[in-house]
Amino acid sequence: MTPYGLAPTDPDVPHATHPLLPPQGHAGPDAPGPLLTAGEAADVYALSEHHVLRRYRRGEDASREFALMRHVAAHGFPVPAVQHLGGPDLLMERLHGPTLLQALAAGELSLHQGAALLADLHRRLHAIAAPTGGVVIHLDLHPGNVILSEPRGPVLIDWANARGGAAPLDVAVTALILAEVAVDAGGDYSQAARALLAAFVGAVDEPLLPSLDEAMDMRCHDPALVAGECDLVAPAGALVRAFAELAAHR
Ligand SMILES: Nc1ncnc2c1ncn2[C@@H]1O[C@H](COP(=O)(O)OP(=O)(O)OP(=O)(O)O)[C@@H](O)[C@H]1O
Ligand SMILES: [Mg+2]
Repeated sequence: MTPYGLAPTDPDVPHATHPLLPPQGHAGPDAPGPLLTAGEAADVYALSEHHVLRRYRRGEDASREFALMRHVAAHGFPVPAVQHLGGPDLLMERLHGPTLLQALAAGELSLHQGAALLADLHRRLHAIAAPTGGVVIHLDLHPGNVILSEPRGPVLIDWANARGGAAPLDVAVTALILAEVAVDAGGDYSQAARALLAAFVGAVDEPLLPSLDEAMDMRCHDPALVAGECDLVAPAGALVRAFAELAAHR
């Protein structure tokens, strides 16, 4: 029996999830199943009601990400159950439900509830020691990477950036991501993002100011950053600083 009860011959896993997966390519007859979404770095395919395949388009190795997801799962942290298939492929539990971003946009959750949920995920994650030292940090913990699963509650996905490190850096990165949306005047969500940021900064335990410069540096050098987004990092950093100083004086 392989981890998570998924033997290669498990009748619940369609033929395409067999270790001999079809060659890479995100559409057409070679696709392992219907394409759910094409993200910046990876394609996510629905294999069945219960499984998705996340495949790095440029062939990056997913084994480090897999090991970390298994590590936090073993500590009770909410992640999709994963089984690595090798190379760029991660087979995982398919979650059903809106992302936190979709739920906030639909008014199903208040901004305060959303901020509290993000702060709680940080708190729980940072209680887990990383195998490489420090605590586990996700470094992309934003509302688009939280799926509100019907039976499981909030589940954190997209562990591509995760590693061992210092908790305040993780908090600073989340604050910065929210602030980038807030300072993007043309964006639809800028007002809501500003309120979410203020609530998040008020809800977190860790001081984020000591790690803000490092977070800004990281965000500007993130290869996943959309063109022009780096221009938002400086004003976003200033906004985070202002809110963090306000919160510190409360
Ligand atoms: N386990 C899962 N169950 C159901 N849907 C999933 C699962 N994992 C990922 N998805 C879907 O695929 C999308 C992209 O996943 P993920 O964030 O891991 O990839 P990404 O390449 O980083 O994408 P992005 O650039 O959009 O962040 C998610 O927003 C979600 O809609
Ligand atoms: Mg993502």
